[in-house]
Amino acid sequence: MGKHAKGGGAAVRVLIGHASAHGSTVDIAQRIAGVLEHDGLAADVVPIRQLGGLKGYDAAVLGSAIHQQAWLPGAMAFVQQHVNELQARPVWLFSVGMSASLPRPVRSSARTAQDRRLAGALRDLVRPRGHGLFSGVAREEDFPRWIGVLFRIVGARFGDFRDWDRIEDWARGIAHDLRSASLQTSGGV
Ligand SMILES: Cc1cc2nc3c(=O)[nH]c(=O)nc-3n(C[C@H](O)[C@H](O)[C@H](O)COP(=O)(O)O)c2cc1C
Repeated sequence: MGKHAKGGGAAVRVLIGHASAHGSTVDIAQRIAGVLEHDGLAADVVPIRQLGGLKGYDAAVLGSAIHQQAWLPGAMAFVQQHVNELQARPVWLFSVGMSASLPRPVRSSARTAQDRRLAGALRDLVRPRGHGLFSGVAREEDFPRWIGVLFRIVGARFGDFRDWDRIEDWARGIAHDLRSASLQTSGGV
């Protein structure tokens, strides 16, 4: 389950907590961890429901699938219950929805509105360094039948919309920030 950076030394330890209903958020969390580990950080990928807190971690990246325009209840409850620990560390948040399944003309405005709503709900609690809004996997069988009908009417599509390049770019930004901060603290170059 947990993954660690190779090699000795005091690598920065990063918790990658995820909340998923159908699995696509887990893969994103693992991909983020892979990027951080590649950059020499130690990353543990853990379901948020299994987390008691953030003890032992220097930083956290928390992500949840979006249902009904909000984080899954367990993920939101974790954030609310661990505000102090989260505010004491560098934290990044990511949300996984399905804006990419929408027809192109409305996609960008839907994304902007969704990003604003989700980041707004979490920002005051956690003061994250960043919020990544990604599209995940929208499977017809995970929705009530009427959603499939609606999708066809409005021209939306089901599918796997994960943009791995965007996700990896976002993770590289986190790795860069954390490595710069740790080099400053240790006086390294
Ligand atoms: C019941 C249900 C409700 C959803 N509600 C939203 C929503 O409000 N906004 C959105 O962008 N995506 C929504 N989605 C899409 C999921 O967030 C998306 O499929 C995501 O990849 C799911 O992540 P998971 O596979 O980790 O559960 C919903 C999906 C389901 C099944």
